[in-house]
Amino acid sequence: MLGGRWMLVGVMMAVPFSGTSVRAQSQAASGGERPWWRPSVIYEVYPRSFADSNNDGIGDLNGIASKLDYLESLGVDAIWITPCYPSPQKDFGYDVSDYTNIDPMYGTLADFDHLVAAARQHHIRVLMDFVVNHTSDQHPWFLASRSSRNSPYRDWYIWRDGKGPGQPPNNWISDFGGPAWTWDAKTQQWYYHYFEAAQPDLNWRNPAVQKAMFNVARFWYDRGVAGFRLDAVDTLYEDPNLHDNPIVNGQMVNKYNDNLAENHVILRRLRSLSNQYDAVLLGETWTDNISQLKQYYGDHDDEIQLPMDFMFATVNTLSASKFRHQIDMIESSGEWPTFVITNHDMERSYNRYGDGVHNDQIAKLMAALYLTLRGTAVMYYGEEIGMSNNDPKRLQDVLDPLGRMDWPKNKGRDGERTPMQWNDTFNAGFTKGKPWLPIPASYKTHNVATELQEPNSILNFYKALLRMRRDDPAIASGDYVDVAPDDANVICFLRRYQDHSVLVALNLSGERQRLNVDLSSDGVGTGKVTTLLTTMKHGPRKLRGAELDPFAVWIVRVGQRGGQADATAGQNPGR
Ligand code: GLC
Repeated sequence: MLGGRWMLVGVMMAVPFSGTSVRAQSQAASGGERPWWRPSVIYEVYPRSFADSNNDGIGDLNGIASKLDYLESLGVDAIWITPCYPSPQKDFGYDVSDYTNIDPMYGTLADFDHLVAAARQHHIRVLMDFVVNHTSDQHPWFLASRSSRNSPYRDWYIWRDGKGPGQPPNNWISDFGGPAWTWDAKTQQWYYHYFEAAQPDLNWRNPAVQKAMFNVARFWYDRGVAGFRLDAVDTLYEDPNLHDNPIVNGQMVNKYNDNLAENHVILRRLRSLSNQYDAVLLGETWTDNISQLKQYYGDHDDEIQLPMDFMFATVNTLSASKFRHQIDMIESSGEWPTFVITNHDMERSYNRYGDGVHNDQIAKLMAALYLTLRGTAVMYYGEEIGMSNNDPKRLQDVLDPLGRMDWPKNKGRDGERTPMQWNDTFNAGFTKGKPWLPIPASYKTHNVATELQEPNSILNFYKALLRMRRDDPAIASGDYVDVAPDDANVICFLRRYQDHSVLVALNLSGERQRLNVDLSSDGVGTGKVTTLLTTMKHGPRKLRGAELDPFAVWIVRVGQRGGQADATAGQNPGR
């Protein structure tokens, strides 16, 4: 399955987080005790592309620190920084050559400590990206491992004899194309790599590897990180007998090198370590069905707290019934959902869901969908300003190894990793140097400075939604009730917490739609309602007969039966 994971396309002791956020206050107000990561918003920062403080064209940690005011005012609770460890950058940081340091291009450990401390002042936690499956082929462990068959590090990686001369040990295929095995002429054996040849897989069956990797986790926890995004967790273990994978309909099924039961043993141990630090694990959990996703939570809620739901993220079409199906799946699993619509491996949602005409409206619609559902939300930088993909036009411009492998069928991931658009000046305010990737022309209109001035911008809509997630008890803590299960065009659900009820109505179609909801069995009155947030000029005053404009978002407070909806006129900060 080539590229199958991406369907498109100073030492301080950990101290309890002390900032009293608005969220903490609203939790207290609602009386709920819940872990800090519920229902937080985690913002993914791709450090190469966020903000460049030294004008070398590549973002850095001091750049991120300089944008903390922005992130706080946006309303995110945590940032997840994709790998910023020393790395040859063959896979832009996902090839780590030292797990306990910072790549000089991003700064120093002191800069990192400063960032964590400054983020804390802004009530923002910091998550690191833990590349658990593989290292760089330049990591000292691998250099030692390949130096000789007798090296004490030999068994830290997966070395095998081939089936015969020039033949790898089995038929496994790398996710980056070609065999998952590379021949080492010096030691006359093959080593295994699920991804690029420059990313050899660690041998998690070796207790020394486990010990070293758990020490890495402790190192960062002790520096104050609030958790990890676990990279490629499904690929940790391989079948020790190296059985060939089956081929079904011409496609390899990764039966023997993906999703092995042993993965879960390590996840339980990582979870137990995270519990000691009140930290969270966010999983890169690609799954085919809900039962696989459910397994990542652990049978006793003892594995990953936040396994990302990529089945939701890859619906890839503006279909009310397809999204509803995914929401129903995770809701009926009884688990806490983690919603995401895009990331550094997927085409931006602006392009994927946009129809080329109403993209700004659709960007708000998508934002309202994943940010008002029950669950944790993971946002990718730039989504809040409607950033679009800027795919390379020529093979010679492609930097991402995936793009070079399969050009032009797959243009790779450069397009979704372009610099953050801060303003409409030179290089979108990202750098005074030459940006490492070209900035899309859309920066003239879609940038932070311009959108802050524009009341109805995508950015102000995101800010209003994030404020609502913090301040509205029903959105923050309510349950989820689908009230239009058969509507082909509109997703409409209630969020209910004690005597607060909020109805979210989303028109996923390009036509006006009449809302057909009956709340009589939900204990909610259907009379007058109060619009909390809408993209329409005027929110309807009543539920009965309400109509939604094309791609409209309408979020309203509804009265509990016997109670009354707030009579204040609704606001419209995101039209
Ligand atoms: C994860 C990362 C991706 C990377 C791969 C190999 O899927 O998200 O960017 O290429 O792991 O490390």
